Amino acid sequence: KKAVLAYSGGLDTSIILKWLIEEYGCEVVAFSADLGQGEELDGIPKKAADTGASACHILDLREEFVRDFVFPMFRANAIYEGRYFLGTSIARPLIAKAQMEIAAKEGADAVSHGATGKGNDQVRFELGYYHFDPSVKVIAPWREWDLNSRTALEDYAKKHGIPVPTSKKFPWSSDRNLLHISFEGDVLEDPWAEAPEEMYVLTKRPEDAPDTPEFLEIEFEKGDAVAVNGERLSPADLLAKLNQYGYEHGIGRLDLLENRYVGMKSRGVYETPGGTILEEAHRGVEQITMDREVMNLRDSLVPRYAAMVYNGYWFSPEREALQTLIDDTQKTVNGVARVKLYKGHCRTVGRKSDTHSLFNVDFATFEADEVYNQADAEGFIKLNALRLRIRSMMEKNLK
Ligand code: ARG
Ligand code: SIN
Repeated sequence: KKAVLAYSGGLDTSIILKWLIEEYGCEVVAFSADLGQGEELDGIPKKAADTGASACHILDLREEFVRDFVFPMFRANAIYEGRYFLGTSIARPLIAKAQMEIAAKEGADAVSHGATGKGNDQVRFELGYYHFDPSVKVIAPWREWDLNSRTALEDYAKKHGIPVPTSKKFPWSSDRNLLHISFEGDVLEDPWAEAPEEMYVLTKRPEDAPDTPEFLEIEFEKGDAVAVNGERLSPADLLAKLNQYGYEHGIGRLDLLENRYVGMKSRGVYETPGGTILEEAHRGVEQITMDREVMNLRDSLVPRYAAMVYNGYWFSPEREALQTLIDDTQKTVNGVARVKLYKGHCRTVGRKSDTHSLFNVDFATFEADEVYNQADAEGFIKLNALRLRIRSMMEKNLK
């Protein structure tokens, strides 16, 4: 018997690794996806081996993550509950996909993860697992064991010789990748208490950002960003570059009380520096290249699309169908946005498109023009007013 565990090298998944061996008597293969979480990956193979893993796979999935998950989602401008850029939500399906590939290669019959039974992540991981192998066995230790407190966990770790970081540097839970970092728990469980400044990792304090604004030109092809200030970059490099600018100018902090799929409200703090810039610039290019009704239709579907991603339905027929429509709306989204970064804010201040601009100054101008007959507007308004006038007549008769 063999299980593949989504392993981060932290205390929780280290305990799970040991617990799977003890409880299920199975061989455990550790798997970590590099999605751009930085130093967190250091030393993972040794930690996994020390804790009893029979093998450890680390896959660099940064390009795939941004190209095939983040960018398609940004074509939709997907935002959950009006605020959240879905940085954790969009990473889970890719982790599940890669984990199932390793399970197949290793001939494993089970997969396991460290998400609790109270959250969204368990759903996202497991819907992904079942998509790739409808009959896979899923082990979610948090839903099974009785290690239900921090002390119980630490006692278990000590008993099994798993090193417990003596002064856990930060008491809150966090999840980081190229798109964002999230924080939950500890001081954040009081929704009235402002997050402490030392929590933030990916952004400078906006008050400490430079006093002079910085301008970026971001070029898009079919709705995907391809270049920054004229330099063509791969998807992952481009997002990493925007993260640097966002860090410097304190862009992309969010404090949100959100609704989890399982039903409770939960407070989260997020930093999405590059993603915030990317979304603003993408909107900028859409403004000049997208038909009004196409944009309205797409926008009306954004809350549905965002809920699909948040709730874990990335690999679903409904998300794929919507994606097809969204991608179709992006065929014309070719152009450049000029954004201004300044003390926590990012604003589009210019947009252009050599090939797909629908902006025609001849029509919009306040100056004299030859293409638009103002007298046409009279009938346009009169017929649009017809039902309003008929209703008004009826109401007057009632009096
Ligand atoms: N609340 C966010 C979401 O559902 C972040 C979850 C963070 N997950 C974690 N394991 N720290 O997407
Ligand atoms: C967890 O419960 O494991 C993290 C939070 C979430 O999944 O919503």
